[in-house]
Amino acid sequence: MKQRVVSGMRPTGRLHIGHFHGVLENWIRIQEEFDCFFFVADWHSLTTEYADTAGIRDNIREMVLDWVAFGLDPAKCLVFRQSLVPHHAELNLILSMITPVSWLERCPTYKEMQENLEAKDLSTFGFLGYPVLMAADIILYKATRVPVGQDQLPHLEITREIARRFNHLYGRVFPEPEALLTETPKLLGLDGRKMSKSYGNSIYLSDTAEDTTKKVLSMMTDPARIRRTDPGEPDVCVAFNLHRIYVPQEKLDEIVPACRNAAIGCVECKRVLAACMNERLAPCRAKRVELAANPGFVDDLLRDGSQKASLTSDAVMAEARAALKI
Ligand code: TRP
Ligand code: SF4
Repeated sequence: MKQRVVSGMRPTGRLHIGHFHGVLENWIRIQEEFDCFFFVADWHSLTTEYADTAGIRDNIREMVLDWVAFGLDPAKCLVFRQSLVPHHAELNLILSMITPVSWLERCPTYKEMQENLEAKDLSTFGFLGYPVLMAADIILYKATRVPVGQDQLPHLEITREIARRFNHLYGRVFPEPEALLTETPKLLGLDGRKMSKSYGNSIYLSDTAEDTTKKVLSMMTDPARIRRTDPGEPDVCVAFNLHRIYVPQEKLDEIVPACRNAAIGCVECKRVLAACMNERLAPCRAKRVELAANPGFVDDLLRDGSQKASLTSDAVMAEARAALKI
């Protein structure tokens, strides 16, 4: 039997290429091998965005269009929306009864995020309980593997502890899921900082070819290379972190010495990059335009997927309630 994988993404809207190479590409790979449940974590977005929910619907639509256009195949994996499967909330409630508050307060991301997002009041019950909801998401489907980056490992550890505690108190219902650790290369944005929507330094999967070219041409290079005649160093060039992904090796073998000898200018070099990116992204971008032309596509997909996910969650909840004697 295939191992079961569950993973979610908060609906942040259109995805940038950092999301793609960091998370989505990995999902696309594992959908071939595992029994995958991928969901839109819309309730999770309330933990930090509760004061401004106007964008959530649009963000869901834009994100799911990217998922499917760029390679997630609903024929191979389940694609659904958390809030359309209310069992997530029921299990979250039950797990909240058995989770010591100290586990949550001790979670390293808790204080860190509160400090990083100082502008928002995150002193809420829901924000503290975020790892409980995440545990519910995962064990609700009896997942055995969870693809996570290094940053999410503490959350997965809490999930395992909660599952263990439930099993200890009521009898064994839930497997303890293991991490499916994925390399998440941190892509640099146009300005050399980590690519992030909030920095305005991102290239989006759904950008047009023209926008992509314009952004690439504005990208920082080797900061020490001021004049065209100055030699450059690809290893410290911001643009070159994208060359490594998008430009074929033969071409890189020409560019690297040419940069170091000042035989190629940065504009020309970035034009090569933009052309390679646009060529690679074009078919998926075209597919996205096609999918977006069907106004019901995302809603239908999420509704169907959520119905299918409910078949599993319904059976697991029946087992959990029986174990609880409720
Ligand atoms: N915590 C994840 C994030 O912020 C999203 C998420 C919610 C998730 N539930 C999950 C990931 C369950 C994996 C499994 O990106
Ligand atoms: Fe970067 Fe290319 Fe300029 Fe070298 S020539 S600094 S690799 S953009």
